[in-house]
Amino acid sequence: PASTQRLPHGGLAVGGVSLAEVADRFETPAYVLDEGEVRGRCRTYQDAFPAAHVLYAAKAFLSRAMVRWVREEGLGLDVCSAGELELAVTAGFPPERIVLHGNAKSPRDLEAALRLGVGRIVIDGPSEIARIAAAVGPEGHQKVMVRVVPGVSAGGHDKIRTGTDDQKFGLSLTDGGAQHAISRILGQPQLELTGLHCHIGSQITEVKPYLVALRRMVGLMARIRDTHGVVLSELDMGGGHGIAYRPGEPALDLTALARRLRAELHRGCAAARLTIPRLLIEPGRAVVGPAGVAVYRVLAVKHTGEKVFVAVDGGMSDNPRPALYGVRYAPRLIGRASTAGCRTATVVGRHCEAGDVLAADVELPGDIHPGDLLAVPVAGAYQLSMASGYNLVGRPAVVAVHQGSARLLVRRETLDDFRSRDIGD
Ligand code: LLP
Repeated sequence: PASTQRLPHGGLAVGGVSLAEVADRFETPAYVLDEGEVRGRCRTYQDAFPAAHVLYAAKAFLSRAMVRWVREEGLGLDVCSAGELELAVTAGFPPERIVLHGNAKSPRDLEAALRLGVGRIVIDGPSEIARIAAAVGPEGHQKVMVRVVPGVSAGGHDKIRTGTDDQKFGLSLTDGGAQHAISRILGQPQLELTGLHCHIGSQITEVKPYLVALRRMVGLMARIRDTHGVVLSELDMGGGHGIAYRPGEPALDLTALARRLRAELHRGCAAARLTIPRLLIEPGRAVVGPAGVAVYRVLAVKHTGEKVFVAVDGGMSDNPRPALYGVRYAPRLIGRASTAGCRTATVVGRHCEAGDVLAADVELPGDIHPGDLLAVPVAGAYQLSMASGYNLVGRPAVVAVHQGSARLLVRRETLDDFRSRDIGD
């Protein structure tokens, strides 16, 4: 990633700060976020999609600083729980720029959304229509969108494909579920349907599936106009923009995505004689993923038969992604120029199971030893946000680096944090 610089003697720096210095000052594991890189990525989106609303998907990573950066860069926010919503609003994010998602919104989610005044609630299923209408009340008013499943299969792994009818999100385009729900929503005076939403999957590296989805969504907008005489003004194409986790891997070309989505939208709307809706997009991973680096300390090195295991002081509790999705990372040894040649090693965590592997079969210097530091680049998205309390290891510290200085954003989770919740015996 662009934010990593090489230092003499094999050192690495991010945002002008040496990672070895971060490890000394904040201990390890530490997640280092390059503020300039996050802001730069927000601007890249704003420049590529000047006419669209760009919403950052908070599920990728959220903290008060992140809320501020995204707000200052002019993006909106996609949240999917009262937790994400309250954190954002209490950190100063304007609620009208927030969209609430979720396939199973809890009473607390809806209560917070209405109390705080979120901009849009995305209806995910038929049972939500009456619930949301009742919560809004006959005198109230709430803008809503409908999540539609366009029947497009895309995404980096089966677990993160959401564009087809065999998964839990959204309303089907093919079995008429979306059309039926839309008629019912249009019959609720307190709900204002502003547009349609789809999110076909995550870690998508090609433009084509987005174009197919967009074409089907425009087709549905035309049918809604023909059936109900209603012209919807918004089309949210979700997120899912893929990034490279290792050098040489493909990433989604954002400029091409922006250009071809716009062209397809104009072509489809002209053909259907529709007013062109405002486009919304919801990138999460591509905003924050490449801006994060995880820094671990090596605790043990073990040679068993043919294999070398390098065990670090974190693992699947801070990064469950290799275990869940088979994702491959490219860890790098920090802090000394390698003279010893490389050999194949497997980087594992410290948790009590064999599946706790961070990076299988990677090339690392042969003289790697306990006390060394390892950096795992492209660690900003869906690692901390999916971190767990497994083995009471504690979630890592989050450190922001910017223009040569480092500051703590989120302190390391301690045993006292666990103890304070454990109130019965
Ligand atoms: N919008 C909606 C409605 C979503 O469900 C998601 C992600 C996004 C936007 C943002 O997608 P992104 O641009 O970040 O791909 N834990 C998985 C990823 C799950 C994505 C869930 N939804 C992973 O670590 O790969």
